[in-house]
Amino acid sequence: MTETIAPAINVTGRAMPSVGLGLWKISTESVAETVYQAIAAGYRHLDSASDYSNEKQVGEGIARALADGLCQRGDLWITSKLWNTYHRREHVEAACRKSLDDLGLDYLDLYLVHFPIALAYIDFDDRYPPQWFYDPSAAQPEMQLDRVPLSETWGAMEQLVEGGLARQIGVCNYTASLLHDLMSYARIKPAMLQIESHPYLTQEALLRTAVGYDIAVTAFSPLGALSYVELDAAIPADSVLGEPVVIAAAKRADVSAAQVVLRWGVQRGTAVIPKTSQPKRLAENLALAGLVLSDAEMAQISALNRNRRFNDPGIFCEQAFNTFHSIYG
Ligand SMILES: NC(=O)c1ccc[n+]([C@@H]2O[C@H](COP(=O)([O-])OP(=O)(O)OC[C@H]3O[C@@H](n4cnc5c(N)ncnc54)[C@H](OP(=O)(O)O)[C@@H]3O)[C@@H](O)[C@H]2O)c1
Repeated sequence: MTETIAPAINVTGRAMPSVGLGLWKISTESVAETVYQAIAAGYRHLDSASDYSNEKQVGEGIARALADGLCQRGDLWITSKLWNTYHRREHVEAACRKSLDDLGLDYLDLYLVHFPIALAYIDFDDRYPPQWFYDPSAAQPEMQLDRVPLSETWGAMEQLVEGGLARQIGVCNYTASLLHDLMSYARIKPAMLQIESHPYLTQEALLRTAVGYDIAVTAFSPLGALSYVELDAAIPADSVLGEPVVIAAAKRADVSAAQVVLRWGVQRGTAVIPKTSQPKRLAENLALAGLVLSDAEMAQISALNRNRRFNDPGIFCEQAFNTFHSIYG
């Protein structure tokens, strides 16, 4: 079996490129150039968020690429995310418009609820993006939770589709129970579930649940631990790239270990959104089309699962934001 083009994921009838560029933790100084180089290299899917604090600069990179004729707006799939402080119905549209304004766009291809966590509202003029602390200048800064039902937030997300601001809407970091609940009241069903997934966190049951509802899945942190070393939430030895079965598949196919792990993600039907600001890796992470893993390789890599979650609010909210707030158990 060979493939000549990178497969696309069907997102309620629209084709989303299965490999996108993740934009978390790319610096404001470099991200415009990275986005431009990524589009020049063939990326057509960008994963942005208000919380990444770089949407203005992402927008500059997109604008330059469009002005230089690298592609048309309609060729791009651009995702952004609603931050936790904007869950109340009266704040959702303004938050979406703020991302659109920063990105220099008049619609998003996909707008996602970033976390099933509602935090107290912070006005744009007070702090943007507000991130996790309610008042970072307090003696003991903490998160301040808000009591907003997720159904309220979803109703306002649906209005974004009706108003043409977002073509599709979806959720991140939802469990199967939250998806079941959402499906019980959604007038416009979620098109996408974005979750952490890599060979150490395969999330088989959650994937089956999403597929059962015809919801596409995007795997974030598809390379596993690597993103979390700089945050002191993982050590280099936690990397899945050193696993013998990954290395053996990489040798067999004459590709890198990262390409094997990303291809595993795509071949099991998820989109992947690896982040890098290194030009060589931009090309490497996109070049998965000629690579096909055998059934045995797929099974061996899936068997690496150890339910190892690196992005867990139940841990990082307490460690980094002085507030215990568990969402997974
Ligand atoms: N919805 C959510 O809650 C959520 C949470 C987390 C992430 N995300 C999204 O998912 C995207 C991807 O996740 P992530 O950034 O956490 O992790 P990731 O993409 O799995 O890993 C990024 C790390 O891997 C390194 N890397 C990239 N390509 C490589 C390669 N070919 N070989 C070796 N190392 C490589 C990068 O370093 P260099 O940059 O130095 O190359 C960086 O340290 C994010 O950027 C963001 O858009 C969403």
